Amino acid sequence: MKSVPVRLAGRDYEVAVGPGLLETAGERIAPLLKRPRLPIVADATVAALHGPRLLTGLERADVQGLLITVPPGEASKSFAELERVLDRLLELRLDRGDAVAAFGGGVIGDLAGLAAALHKRGSPFVQIPTTLLAQVDSAVGGKTAIDTRRGKNLIGAFHQPRLVLADTDVLATLPLRELRAGLAEVVKAALIEDPDFFDWLEVRAGAVLALDPAAVAHAVVRAVEIKAAIVAEDEHETTGRRALLNLGHTFAHAFEAEAGYDSAALLHGEAVALGCALAYRFAVGGGLCPPADAARAETLLARCGLPTSLSDLSQTFAADRLLDRMADDKKAEGGALTLILPRRIGEAFTRRDVDRATLRDFLISEGAQP
Ligand code: NAD
Ligand code: GLY
Repeated sequence: MKSVPVRLAGRDYEVAVGPGLLETAGERIAPLLKRPRLPIVADATVAALHGPRLLTGLERADVQGLLITVPPGEASKSFAELERVLDRLLELRLDRGDAVAAFGGGVIGDLAGLAAALHKRGSPFVQIPTTLLAQVDSAVGGKTAIDTRRGKNLIGAFHQPRLVLADTDVLATLPLRELRAGLAEVVKAALIEDPDFFDWLEVRAGAVLALDPAAVAHAVVRAVEIKAAIVAEDEHETTGRRALLNLGHTFAHAFEAEAGYDSAALLHGEAVALGCALAYRFAVGGGLCPPADAARAETLLARCGLPTSLSDLSQTFAADRLLDRMADDKKAEGGALTLILPRRIGEAFTRRDVDRATLRDFLISEGAQP
């Protein structure tokens, strides 16, 4: 087991990464609890596959786990599901100091985290991420959110967990497509911050997808270290440092919204991969990034089985609709488009006031409909 600290003045927490963590969940979580019971907001699929292991692990430390199941899929990041989860928490008559856990992928972490932030103005929160994407990214850093008709993650709060338990054993049941999607956020972490990690991924991405234990452990730990360091520097995205974690995301969120948040059509990680490839090509077009770096980034993402161009998706997209979505992005200021762009492999920067006409031409050159 490896432990990565997230350092936030007075609110440090640990991200534990390794096999067998569900079995020891009770002893790890019990010190955070006022009473020996833990409501667990759980993805229904994950509850069926891994709920018994978690509940037994909690019982070993005399902690009673209370499952609140949520239907799988992005559609659960909704006002309706948030209300249902909050209702269940209130029915359980929790005190404000009672902790709430999330057990699932990024959808559950984002939803349960927001519910914990809102419940009695803030309840302690534990993340037990079960997708690669959630273990390397969404369970760390305290961003919580739901989606609305106007766009993704537009209603949310910063609410840091007290503990993250990333049990790598649970990845054995994750569909390969979801594993690939999680790898997109790992590659993104390398692209923004760590050229050596990118070199490593060029050699070992296949081993991660094959669930080689050492490769998975290294990928998760390094991605978490990168995110933890950035979050420690800029927890609330005020200096711009944390915004770099959104490389490719302005494009990605627009595609996800246009695809109707339909996981069958496009997963978040797939959208991120496509968004990163587009960000590299857009940067190359503006003379901001060497073409050779863009080619390497694109090649690695494609080798991970991820989409890197619009032609990899079954749907067609209208350039103007994508641009409208991009203007709704949280990073947009006064309607002006903001993109996180690469300077090379291992370095990214924020580009404000991106010219709409230039971006439109670019999207059309990439295959979007005029
Ligand atoms: P997800 O939560 O939808 O999980 C993907 C699928 O995998 C679901 O169908 C789920 O039932 C299934 N699943 C989960 N764990 C499993 C397991 N161990 N075995 C078998 N099946 C399993 O998707 P995700 O990719 O984990 O998360 C995507 C979400 O995360 C998006 O909403 C995105 O916006 C959000 N996100 C948030 C942050 C953040 O900082 N808060 C960062 C990145 C992404
Ligand atoms: N996923 C981007 C962030 O946590 O800031």
